[in-house]
Amino acid sequence: MPIKQHAFSDFALTSDQWDRITSASNIIRAGGTVAFPTETVYGLGADVTNPTAIDKIYRIKQRPLNHPLIVHIGALDDLDYWVHTIPESARELAHCFWPGPLTLILQRSWRVPDCVTGGQNTVGIRMPSHPIALALLHALGPQKALAAPSANRFGRLSPTTAAHVYQQLGSEVDLILDGGSCAIGLESTIVSFHEQSPKILRPGGISAEEIETALNIPIALTHTDNNPTIRTSGSLPSHYAPVTPLKLAPTEHIWPQALAAAERQLRTLVITWSDIADNKPYNPLIAHHAMPHDPFTYGQQLYAKLHQFDQTTFDLLLIETPPDHTDWLAVSDRLRRAGHRFSDNN
Ligand code: TXA
Ligand code: MG
Repeated sequence: MPIKQHAFSDFALTSDQWDRITSASNIIRAGGTVAFPTETVYGLGADVTNPTAIDKIYRIKQRPLNHPLIVHIGALDDLDYWVHTIPESARELAHCFWPGPLTLILQRSWRVPDCVTGGQNTVGIRMPSHPIALALLHALGPQKALAAPSANRFGRLSPTTAAHVYQQLGSEVDLILDGGSCAIGLESTIVSFHEQSPKILRPGGISAEEIETALNIPIALTHTDNNPTIRTSGSLPSHYAPVTPLKLAPTEHIWPQALAAAERQLRTLVITWSDIADNKPYNPLIAHHAMPHDPFTYGQQLYAKLHQFDQTTFDLLLIETPPDHTDWLAVSDRLRRAGHRFSDNN
């Protein structure tokens, strides 16, 4: 089916990109997998309605089969096709934030197969805003959707460039669409409408304040770490992790901890957000990287930097604990999970 290019003229995709999108849609229709850019992170997509293709995603990701996938749609109207009942407040959020970095957990319609939801009766659904993601969804046509987790191996760092996808998944994916660096760089905010009142299951690109303002009610952030009935893999205590051990340290402890690590002959990279680097002690085993002061730019760069530092020869990434402020929630959440498997109490 030819792509309606005029619908996307605003996005100014090149003819080369259109060719790749046409190839990608043919691959998806034939039951293959395509990695594609979104504004949050790259996704690994397959046809929602094709269980064999969905099975490929789980195998490539090495992800447990009972961890559900997000359904990506290309138009707001498609929400009613994939979802059984939509509370008014959920519809309100979709109108406010789609296309954009918000996933809604809602009661699924019969059209969403068990393999996508991990057997749960809810479905995670979102409309991404990246022009290539939207163009691919539109190329697939109406009543088509992409089931797509982040395009990384289970538990590892999410990809924010096509090169990151290639490094982790390489030739196992049928095609990788390159859309440059992801503008947000952290995964979407997940809001569940599974229970009476909406709850944030994963902080992300849309803040709790923005959701509260849109709904005009306070909203809870659910800590699902110890709740085995909620299978949100991004809420597992250990997730989004680099290979190099990563530890968080409060501002006042960061240099003493770096010196203690250096004494144990560990090549240590100290990563800060504040100006404490001004007090950096001299030690040949300690290097320093300053991240941006503001949480949004920090979040945008976080995975890309961790991917980069994982390629170097550091023995330890020592990260300054972010400020205890709601704007930093998504960054703090990812850092905590990235460091969990290396923490002393683990
Ligand atoms: O920004 C994003 O959300 C990216 C891009 C590609 O859209 N996707 C992403 O997918 O982060 P994934 O699979 O890596 O993380 C989605 C999270 C998982 O932790 C999954 O368990 C949870 O959403 N999830 C999906 N459906 C769910 C459901 N029905 N109930 C509870 N959690 C769900
Ligand atoms: Mg993921």
